[in-house]
Amino acid sequence: MIALSLAEIAEIVGGELRPAAGHDPASIVSGVVDTDSRQMSAGGIFVAKPGEHTDGHRFVGAALENGAVLALVEHPVDDVISQIVVADVIDAIAELARAVVARVRAAGDLRIVGVTGSNGKTTTKNFLARILQDEGETVAPIASYNNEVGAPLTMLRISDTTRFLVCEFGASAPGEIARLAGLVNPDVVIELMVGLAHAGGFGGIEETAHAKAELLDAARIGGTAVLNLDDARVVGMTPRAEARDLRIVGFGQTPAAEVRARDIDVTASGTSCTIVIAGEAPAEERALPLRLQVLGAHHVNNALAAVAATRALGVDPADAIARLETVRIAERWRMQPMGGDEVRIINDAYNASPDSMAAALRTLAQITGPGERTVAVLGAMSELGETAGDEHDRIGLLAVRLNIQRIVVVGADARRLFLAAVGEGSWDGEAVHLPDADAAFEYLQGELRPGDRVLVKSSNSAGLRFLGDRLGESFS
Ligand SMILES: Nc1ncnc2c1ncn2[C@@H]1O[C@H](COP(=O)(O)OP(=O)(O)O)[C@@H](O)[C@H]1O
Ligand SMILES: [Mg+2]
Repeated sequence: MIALSLAEIAEIVGGELRPAAGHDPASIVSGVVDTDSRQMSAGGIFVAKPGEHTDGHRFVGAALENGAVLALVEHPVDDVISQIVVADVIDAIAELARAVVARVRAAGDLRIVGVTGSNGKTTTKNFLARILQDEGETVAPIASYNNEVGAPLTMLRISDTTRFLVCEFGASAPGEIARLAGLVNPDVVIELMVGLAHAGGFGGIEETAHAKAELLDAARIGGTAVLNLDDARVVGMTPRAEARDLRIVGFGQTPAAEVRARDIDVTASGTSCTIVIAGEAPAEERALPLRLQVLGAHHVNNALAAVAATRALGVDPADAIARLETVRIAERWRMQPMGGDEVRIINDAYNASPDSMAAALRTLAQITGPGERTVAVLGAMSELGETAGDEHDRIGLLAVRLNIQRIVVVGADARRLFLAAVGEGSWDGEAVHLPDADAAFEYLQGELRPGDRVLVKSSNSAGLRFLGDRLGESFS
């Protein structure tokens, strides 16, 4: 964090300062802010968050041992550490983040990019960070830090010399994105797509679209909106971008897009396409080849968004593309190649929505060559609400229609997917249903053979990512 005195922090968060011996209100702190006492290092600021499973107030002592010098708490603790007592630590880190970002922005040329969408946020965040880090000091979320805790903690990692801050905004309820993005008012906002991910929490896909559009409402007035023109629900957000006077940059495959892709070719070693950047006049149009190492046509969209957004920040698309080509995987457990040359595993089981399931299955079908066999190991998709049954049916049908040769369904809550696949003509043996990951591992150990291309995909709660890891290791 930037250097602030204890008194300044207490004022920003509206808390009561209780300095430890040897500290006074003018003492300066500048360490990393975190809710995890194990992540503390010298000078750290520990946030004692009451959690579902445990209470952070129990770990203030551990944070102190690891070097923390200040704790944000909701009630005073006995440990010998300076404390600021607030009513709600989540509100406190939000206000602290707002103030820190405002100061750095006022002092220099910090530019902020915000990303939202039902799928692809973390991938696009990583693409953006890869492009921007060669332009200047860049702060981007660790892993998928995108909620009321992760987003402010990311913002608080900026320093006086940070040039770019990349923020991922996820949401499982209306108002969340408005609140988090409203802390920083991003200069450039990206709307990737609206899908069924978490739709259960919103009440449906239209409600999801409304929630995602909150990012436009929170953009800096006169900033840039990077919109997926292939997605009608994103196009429908245009008035909200106009209301903030945002310059709209469209991306996608439609010829109307200012940054578009054509000639997409999906292979087992990556995805290539031509990125076309519209000019003022037709003669000024540029066509640039892209060879992504990341698997799947769906990631071309995320690459387009990253090129369009960084172009708005002054990065030449040719430079952006060269940097994107160095990215080996989107993120851990996202279309992550594992295993060996004989049995290839694609571990995409960090999470799953109907859109990302479909995208992954299509990719599996596309990258499998003649003489090779497609195997899909699929678990349940969570958080779909009342559409869950139908959506599992649709994925079962799709797997059969894509001619996936072995469908291995794991877990009782994915049973509909199995039944739909069987009903669609995937007879016994082609589709199997196994109770859990251990049973699936056992089965696949005996079943997989050279030439198999194996997709492992489920929602996070089904835990198949660890099955993917085990398979990856055992066939490497
Ligand atoms: N445009 C897209 N359409 C469908 N699936 C996508 C798209 N972009 C990414 N995915 C898939 O969605 C899943 C989550 O990707 P990730 O980048 O972690 O997104 P998020 O952070 O939004 O959850 C992965 O399986 C990924 O392959
Ligand atoms: Mg994410």
